[in-house]
Amino acid sequence: TKIAVFASGRGSNFQAIQEAIERGELDAKVELVVTDKPSSYVVTRADNFGIPVHAFTAKSYESKEAYEAEIVSLLRDKQVEWIVLAGYMRLVGKTLLSAFSNRIVNIHPSLLPSFPGKDAIGQAMDHGVKVTGVTVHLVDEGMDTGPILSQAAIEVVDGNREETENRIHAMEHVLYTKTLKQLFEK
Ligand code: GRF
Repeated sequence: TKIAVFASGRGSNFQAIQEAIERGELDAKVELVVTDKPSSYVVTRADNFGIPVHAFTAKSYESKEAYEAEIVSLLRDKQVEWIVLAGYMRLVGKTLLSAFSNRIVNIHPSLLPSFPGKDAIGQAMDHGVKVTGVTVHLVDEGMDTGPILSQAAIEVVDGNREETENRIHAMEHVLYTKTLKQLFEK
């Protein structure tokens, strides 16, 4: 299965997916990493794996349609079948959604529909929840909406954001790989 991974930051989920592919656990190939943050660490990670990167700056385009149309054409050239969002901090627009209808997945660090949007872990901790988690879902036009594919729960380590965060990220790496495997084997 040919995939593209979209990320705006650290890229630890990208790394986990690529490592699972290299271990033979996930039958897929990352054809392209797409980032809207040319200086983000995910670019270094992609370079280390020898995976091509499309880095763009949204401001240099007239519109979302314009930068998304360029991405669609790159993905078509590479015959990409699935888009995997991994910390991509932009709402996906109509151009990408209609070109990859029901073929875009996202991971979010909360038990959706609780705590969508930015800093979901901070939102959950501030709310004082005792259990939070991770959700993998199909992407639609909303922010962290779309049909849920899988979830995993994590107990909040009382008042300890860092430890809670570590647990969530470790769970993300396992759940994303597992869910993609199920999706691609269908
Ligand atoms: C993850 O927590 C993911 O759930 C959220 O953004 C973060 C990305 O982390 N959407 P990384 O860049 O994969 O390390």
